[in-house]
Amino acid sequence: MPHDPVTVQAETDDAASSTETTVVSGIQPSGQLHLGNYFGAIRQHIALHDQHESYFFIVNYHALTSVQDNALLEAYTMDVATTYLALGFDPEASHLFIQSDVPEVTELAWIFYNLIPVSRLELGVSYKEKVERGMTPNAGLLNYPVLQAADILIYGGTLVPVGADQKQHIEMTRDLAQKFNSTFCPDDAPLFPMPEPLILDDVAVVPGIDGQKMSKSYGNTIGLFDEGKTLKKKVMSIVTDSTPLDAPKDPDACNVFALIKLFASDARRAEIAANYRAGGYGYGHAKKELLGMIDDYFGEARERYYDLKDRPDYVRDILREGGKQARAQARAYMARVREAVGLVTTYE
Ligand code: TRP
Repeated sequence: MPHDPVTVQAETDDAASSTETTVVSGIQPSGQLHLGNYFGAIRQHIALHDQHESYFFIVNYHALTSVQDNALLEAYTMDVATTYLALGFDPEASHLFIQSDVPEVTELAWIFYNLIPVSRLELGVSYKEKVERGMTPNAGLLNYPVLQAADILIYGGTLVPVGADQKQHIEMTRDLAQKFNSTFCPDDAPLFPMPEPLILDDVAVVPGIDGQKMSKSYGNTIGLFDEGKTLKKKVMSIVTDSTPLDAPKDPDACNVFALIKLFASDARRAEIAANYRAGGYGYGHAKKELLGMIDDYFGEARERYYDLKDRPDYVRDILREGGKQARAQARAYMARVREAVGLVTTYE
């Protein structure tokens, strides 16, 4: 639904006191999307996107903390958009765009840098974990949560669907909103609403083929649109124990079953669990079952995905339109931020 600029203005005027929900979330274009991404976040994004005013953006500025190769960054960015559209994201019902098409977020981030101590950022769980994993502790990585706060607040976001690992970033966002409001706004006219996280932790950890959490950094992923031999090879290589075929097995200790649970109906899940416990049902059977489930679940979206991949101009058009709408909103907000801060603006 294209934005009428007048409506945007009216909405932002009372954004701080409004009880209207604005959903905001960013998706990293930092690698091939996999089942862990899907069940951890994407599925909920798709479910939410047409329920409220919402902004979903591909965080390519954030990705620079890990992807420093222009061809790859471009490819990953387009891939996220193509994936969302293939999965049924309706660009008429929401805004889907590229973070850097709204460069105003970096301006807001700059303003926020002045409201948060470096020591607080150095204590960031996600920051520390990334550094432990060997990433360079550069200023981008350290300030990552500040840019994220700008992402959320520049659209007046009130609800942020994210994985449990992002909880602290949303806390920092709230603190920055609070700090900005108390520093620059009259008590009765705060500029930023307090966003709430919507923590998507109803899904247990999605295991990768080696049994660790599925993650690009562990190289153990099953791609969302993997198909044919590639998919089969990955599913067949999921690590299981060596319980003999005839012996009863514990479904809850099995990586294959953990994945089956994500796809199966309750009834089917119970049947398969019973098969495990009865014995005579091998991990090979379970893997075949899982393979069929993945094909059924993603088959249609996969076709749309490969079709859209051949029409990058169409995908770009959608992103451009989403970016235009988002940018209008962001600019309206920034005009008020600049005024609140005292940044003299002499252009129209
Ligand atoms: N940090 C988020 C992640 O890694 C991505 C992100 C960037 C984001 N900006 C955001 C999420 C704004 C929600 C809102 O998943």
